[in-house]
Amino acid sequence: MADARPFHWEYRPEPVTRELFQVEGGCALSGSVSISGAKNAALKLLAAAVLTGERCRFTNVPEIEDVRVMAQTLRELGVVVDHPEPNVYEVAAGDVEWLFVPLEAAAKMRASFMLLGPLLARFGRVIISNPGGDRIGRRPVNLHVDAMRALGAEIEYRNGYYFATAPGRLRGTEVRFPSVSVMGTENVMLAATLADGHTVIRPAAQEPEIDDLIAFLQKMGANVQRTYPDTIEVDGKRRLRGAEHRVSSDRIEAGTFVVAGAVTGGRIMLTNAPCDHLGAFLETIQQAGVGISCTKDTIEVDGTALGGAGFRAVDITTGTYPGLATDIQPPTSVLLTQATGASKVHETIFEDRLEWMGELRRMGAKIRILDSHRAVITGRSKLHGADVEIGDLRAGASLILAALAARGTTTIHGAHHVHRGYENIDGKFLGLGARIKRLEEGNDATSS
Ligand code: EPZ
Repeated sequence: MADARPFHWEYRPEPVTRELFQVEGGCALSGSVSISGAKNAALKLLAAAVLTGERCRFTNVPEIEDVRVMAQTLRELGVVVDHPEPNVYEVAAGDVEWLFVPLEAAAKMRASFMLLGPLLARFGRVIISNPGGDRIGRRPVNLHVDAMRALGAEIEYRNGYYFATAPGRLRGTEVRFPSVSVMGTENVMLAATLADGHTVIRPAAQEPEIDDLIAFLQKMGANVQRTYPDTIEVDGKRRLRGAEHRVSSDRIEAGTFVVAGAVTGGRIMLTNAPCDHLGAFLETIQQAGVGISCTKDTIEVDGTALGGAGFRAVDITTGTYPGLATDIQPPTSVLLTQATGASKVHETIFEDRLEWMGELRRMGAKIRILDSHRAVITGRSKLHGADVEIGDLRAGASLILAALAARGTTTIHGAHHVHRGYENIDGKFLGLGARIKRLEEGNDATSS
């Protein structure tokens, strides 16, 4: 019978209430802030729950838009997803009605592509939209598709959708990635847990969120381990069981708040912070002259050097973990505007991740963009308030940091980008003494 439900071939965006942030800069932050669960762990854990029909329970899940989109995408597949209390999700992927992940989900959130591996491994077929690129780069999914084919999947691409089947069962094999891919590693790892035989993944990405996922899969009864820093090995099982897991802390959110304390010349304390996942970043920040002291799960930030000798220029280069995370490059670039001298920024992962710096320049930052991967930031610049537009999640959070450091009022349009990946970011900044308001577009933004 023809599929009763018409495909939505072109994406019709949900009407988002356009929101903005209005920030009054110039005040030093103080107090403490608790870091939430990691977006880039939570989304993959929810996808991994599809590998079993038994109930899975996740705690410390961040209350962010991307998690809500993933939960809704799972519900539309017929998966039971309960949200019994804040930061808790329960998932039971019994028999799934549809195996169709629509364009809407992919257009909102690239991580919807994480459903390819688990749905293919569990049910043997799935139609899933190509998530496409976004403001930070083209972001193809060829590495995911090639890896699934290596496991024996048959995948055809038509009109923006991948039609994937696994005749019989996926078969374990050696998956060699031509370059490191975080979600490519995760997608094929999830699929391999139910494949027939042994799978070796190399080079496997080393991001800490992947080890969070491995820990959960092991609780489900999967036979998976990281045998070398860049190698993951899996012995497939017939079935996995339900399990419970606490999402690890978000290292990118933590890095964002470290910069907030520094660029406002404040002193703040981060709690529930994953210090041991921030090595390269904290080293860079300390080279710039920011005071940092860590315990296992707290980070004390002392940005008072800003008022004295100021910060020191530092050259930064992003890389795969354990290198400096590309997601922490935009916040770090804001810090470099407050350092005396020229700092080189080399963004090696995404080809369009420096575009947002045009907005930073409108706030008075002195930035020369050399090409799509390189820029030079010359400080120390006196940032001033402006009317700016957010293009992507991490750029959005970074514009808030710049607004906090600037003199005067900054209006930041496109706040919904930030709510995708940061839980209650305005509330957390208010708790640190920031003057920030979240307003709907169209309201008189100057109203008190
Ligand atoms: C994950 O994206 C993160 N997203 C990104 O965080 C993060 O920036 C990125 O890893 C790198 O650390 C989630 O985990 C949901 P990749 P992912 O595959 O897995 C190219 C955020 O703000 N590539 O490691 O999609 C790709 O274009 C987001 O939280 C291919 O060419 O990144 C990029 O240049 C932004 N073909 C490079 O590899 C593919 O099939 C690394 O991408 C896949 C990737």
